Amino acid sequence: MNDAATSPTLQISRGADYSRILAVGGYRPRRSVTNAEICTMIDSSDEWIQTRSGIKERRWAEPDETIQMMAVAAGRHALSKIDLAPGQIDAVIISTVTHFHATPAIATRIAAELGAKGAAAFDISAACAGFCYGVAMADSMIRTGTARHVLVIGVERLSDITDKHDRGTAFLFADGAGAAVVGPSETPGIGPVVWGSDGDQADLITQTAAFDEAARQVGPTHQDFPTLRMDGNPVFRWASYTMAKVAAEAMDRAGVTPDQIDVFAPHQANLRIVDAMFRALKLPERVVIARDIEYQGNTSAASIPLAIDALLASGEAHSGQIALIIGFGAGLVYAGQVIVLP
Ligand SMILES: CC(C)(COP(=O)(O)OP(=O)(O)OC[C@H]1O[C@@H](n2cnc3c(N)ncnc32)[C@H](O)[C@@H]1OP(=O)(O)O)[C@@H](O)C(=O)NCCC(=O)NCCS
Repeated sequence: MNDAATSPTLQISRGADYSRILAVGGYRPRRSVTNAEICTMIDSSDEWIQTRSGIKERRWAEPDETIQMMAVAAGRHALSKIDLAPGQIDAVIISTVTHFHATPAIATRIAAELGAKGAAAFDISAACAGFCYGVAMADSMIRTGTARHVLVIGVERLSDITDKHDRGTAFLFADGAGAAVVGPSETPGIGPVVWGSDGDQADLITQTAAFDEAARQVGPTHQDFPTLRMDGNPVFRWASYTMAKVAAEAMDRAGVTPDQIDVFAPHQANLRIVDAMFRALKLPERVVIARDIEYQGNTSAASIPLAIDALLASGEAHSGQIALIIGFGAGLVYAGQVIVLP
């Protein structure tokens, strides 16, 4: 038994006062898939898909555009924008639901290929909220001193688990990778995260079967590789209304008002959800809205960093501006925060 008088008081680490996103980067698969091509697989039309989702095209990865390849490319792209060697990255967080090895995590291989030798590396599974979950964790790690620079990457090959003949999802899901380097800052650059889950609604977006179930089945009940099934309409309503309240709380917690927001970059789930949230939040008309979904589709954890990267590259958004980000999806899970753009 320890004697209170002699037992040591543990030292704890303390980090930077503040953190911020230092750079973002992305990788978009080569192949664009048009609505016309989608309509060869489902009974639909270009007009229906555009009106109901805002999607004109999406990117589907080819065999060589693996999770690892796309994540490394996105990470390198982000790192190329700042003066930081890969060896200075202390932790790599990969958010994905389409890495099909339960072990090892893909993060260790990505860290090694990037040259972030010895960095702490792990995967998280928070679906379309994964990027915002990762940024929240990176912010905490930097401020508590367990890491100085953290690479957060959202990467998906949703086309691998999309049933190309399912009218409810075939036109929606896509592939890609988006990355952010998070590091110390002299001023606050990442507001408090507002995050949570609602497991009572887990069945709204789920796989047709667990991988082990599908693998064990033989004979007439045999299932092909599991695919995503979504009860689209309840998800749509949850995303449009409940998530607007979460985004409003994120602004509140960061101490900013709607008129102080410059850029709105929510998860690119459906353009109608983006527009409904924008209206519910009463953001001013001058706010730049991410519409990356139009040509990229819904890339889950990759969608927010890809959207931010596109807005910065096109000059629609600028470094130092205040952006509201929010991710939400299967779980159900959600996370939102106000950030300063890199
Ligand atoms: C998937 C989604 C675009 C469907 O749009 P919706 O307006 O909810 O459409 P519904 O499912 O209510 O279907 C409306 C009608 O279109 C039809 N329809 C459904 N899919 C169709 C398709 N691909 N092409 C043409 N018609 C279609 C339906 O049969 C229905 O017809 P009916 O009115 O005659 O019965 C929308 O629900 C959505 O985006 N949901 C949320 C997605 C999301 O955020 N996911 C987050 C996790 S990443």
